Amino acid sequence: MSKLKLMTTYLRPAYLLALTAALFSVPASAQEHIHFDSTTHVFRIDTPGETYAFGVNAQSEIQTLYWGSPLAAADPLPTPAAYRSLSGMEESSNITPYEYRAWGGLNFTEPAVKITFPDGNRDLVLHYVSHKIDGDKLTITTKDISRDVFVDLIYTVAPATGVIGRNSVITNKTNAKLTIEQAASATWNLPHGTDYQLSYLSGRWAAEWQLTQEPIKDGTTVLESRRGSTGQQNNPWFAITRANTSGPHPEFPTNEEVGQVWFGALAWSGSWRINVERNQVHDIHVTGGYNPFDFAYPLAPGASLSTPVFYAGYSSHGIGEASRIFHRFQNTQILPQKPTPKLRPVIYNSWEATEMAVDYPGQAALAEKAARIGVERFIMDDGWFGQRKDDHAGLGDWYVNKQKFPDGLKPLIDKVHALNMDFGLWVEPEMVNPNSDLYRAHPDWVLNMTGRPRSEGRNQLMLNLARKDVRAYVFNFLDKILTDNDIAFLKWDYNRQWSEPGWPELGPDSDKQKTVYVEYIRNLYSILAELRAKHPKVEIQSCSSGGGRVDLGILGLTDEVWPSDNTNPFDRLSIQDGFTYAYTPQVMTAWVTDSATHAPGLPSTAYRFLVSMQGGLGVGSNLNHWTDDDFATAKDLIAAYKTIRQTVQQGSLYRLISPRDGSEHSATESVSTDLHQAVLFTFLHTTSLNYPFPRVYLKGLDPAKQYHVTPIYGTLKKDTPETASGSYWMNHGVDPDLTGDFKAAAFKFEAE
Ligand code: GLA
Repeated sequence: MSKLKLMTTYLRPAYLLALTAALFSVPASAQEHIHFDSTTHVFRIDTPGETYAFGVNAQSEIQTLYWGSPLAAADPLPTPAAYRSLSGMEESSNITPYEYRAWGGLNFTEPAVKITFPDGNRDLVLHYVSHKIDGDKLTITTKDISRDVFVDLIYTVAPATGVIGRNSVITNKTNAKLTIEQAASATWNLPHGTDYQLSYLSGRWAAEWQLTQEPIKDGTTVLESRRGSTGQQNNPWFAITRANTSGPHPEFPTNEEVGQVWFGALAWSGSWRINVERNQVHDIHVTGGYNPFDFAYPLAPGASLSTPVFYAGYSSHGIGEASRIFHRFQNTQILPQKPTPKLRPVIYNSWEATEMAVDYPGQAALAEKAARIGVERFIMDDGWFGQRKDDHAGLGDWYVNKQKFPDGLKPLIDKVHALNMDFGLWVEPEMVNPNSDLYRAHPDWVLNMTGRPRSEGRNQLMLNLARKDVRAYVFNFLDKILTDNDIAFLKWDYNRQWSEPGWPELGPDSDKQKTVYVEYIRNLYSILAELRAKHPKVEIQSCSSGGGRVDLGILGLTDEVWPSDNTNPFDRLSIQDGFTYAYTPQVMTAWVTDSATHAPGLPSTAYRFLVSMQGGLGVGSNLNHWTDDDFATAKDLIAAYKTIRQTVQQGSLYRLISPRDGSEHSATESVSTDLHQAVLFTFLHTTSLNYPFPRVYLKGLDPAKQYHVTPIYGTLKKDTPETASGSYWMNHGVDPDLTGDFKAAAFKFEAE
């Protein structure tokens, strides 16, 4: 590091480069994935599936050179050179694709970082200073051309999947406080093109994970949350595909299995923004990080701000492969139990059966019935604490409600254990109802702006987790619950978004008010990390009125998520379909409930089970209303699920027929990583005009292996062989025997 410090800006760029090269470039070897060519000043990240290249140009700026399918080691990449100005109106500095552009100089594209200095100066121009390669991590230090503001650009690579993580660390080495007004993690650049398509996920409560795919035109598409948390409205994930009129395979349009895909997601659970911009020369820039809306982060001399990691990857085999790469990356690199997360147990959750009317007899009766069908974890949802009768009271008062549980939670937990299940509990730690002892004692603990109304959402206010005393309160009550009780799982809920996000404790003159957007989330993450360290066996679910807090930041600290409060099984097909574009089935909890089953003709128990068996299976029905047939079907299907769950949760997912856009048919297939097992799920909404279900072609099998097919539920057409090669199942395909309304069938293929 002392060598790094030597490299201050009075050194000229060429000298700097030579010096840096001498200090840090190391001979290439097969194990290394990050290289620096000291002659051309080009950095290359090479993995089996992709090459990503960028370099330092003669102006000491860092520009993107290539991102796509792997190039040969000896392939010449051009020496980085700023683009030629198109005219006096389109200067070079405004069209060159920079890796991380500050707002300063002549620049009209979206900057990654913008700073105001105390003297009113707002110009920032970052130049390369030095770099360091440390295994699969590269740190490039850049610095403003005159002021001692340093920005480290950090790159990490996960070689097996090629997913690259990027973030920045902004350090103030001047002797005065400055204010960061905009701080992105990274900009990802794609070459000129007119045929790019953007895919993104949006929605609302009970309608999350709706996929939009649209052409990228000139201008900017803004995906963002201003809500203080990830949000349901947009998810911080994107994928860019090509319609392929000018790509390497113009004969094929991009689809699930064919074509180039660039994709990424931001690891941040607070307000965020991703800008997808097509500029005046048809280059694509994707810039993401903290949402600059209402953002200001003062940085004292010597202080730093680091931005969240913006991960991105590449697939040359369609958006299906992009998802599989990202699923594998999340399972092996992100989840807390990486690289081999435990399989999700089959759970029962009380919410849809009892809502807040929980008590010992009711929960114990449900637990007995759940155990009979093979459930492994019993979760008591909302209603067990404080004076909680409905959503008007109780949040914040985390003591057991004595009317409902006179002897505390222990009798119920013991009962659940005696039934051979482990026990999970619902909490909503960041919230408070105005009608609670906590709020009466600490009305100053909530996000609020002095003298202004405190808007309620679901009759609750937000605790300001950025405060030290609030952080301590939340950690301590959770720690106590987990210490006093034998609890295996927390369902961590979060049921409103921010309003009036003031932090009056800091005082009226504080310039730190807006740092709440960062400090709140940091404390959330640190509580989760500390709880996990102290209670390593406890698993946690991230829930936010359904799928409102699903992102790669929270997934580093939680084991699963609740994708949506919408448990209608038909709706769930498209919700789950959208979810898997971005996130792994390993974390996708799915319950069988009574939703939409009250009208005659709506989905059978088996249909509902098969829908939920595509993720982490759970049951949320009121088991007191089930018939013997329901119990028998559930028992059989839960037993079958246990034989396929590893493939479903951790295998390769193929979305064979999409349920989107009112499709009458849908099908998914999961293949185990060793290719020994595949599971096919098929769903029919309605047979119309007596047409047969479309033939389904399996994917991803070993063509040479013989696979034996057995039904999990339903049948294939009579002439289907019992055993055939992987080639046969993939090329000939199968015909599920499905007719009628809301029918489903599933099959297991096992290598002999
Ligand atoms: C949210 C969750 C539900 C349930 C309720 C309890 O809506 O998404 O699953 O836990 O809160 O109040």
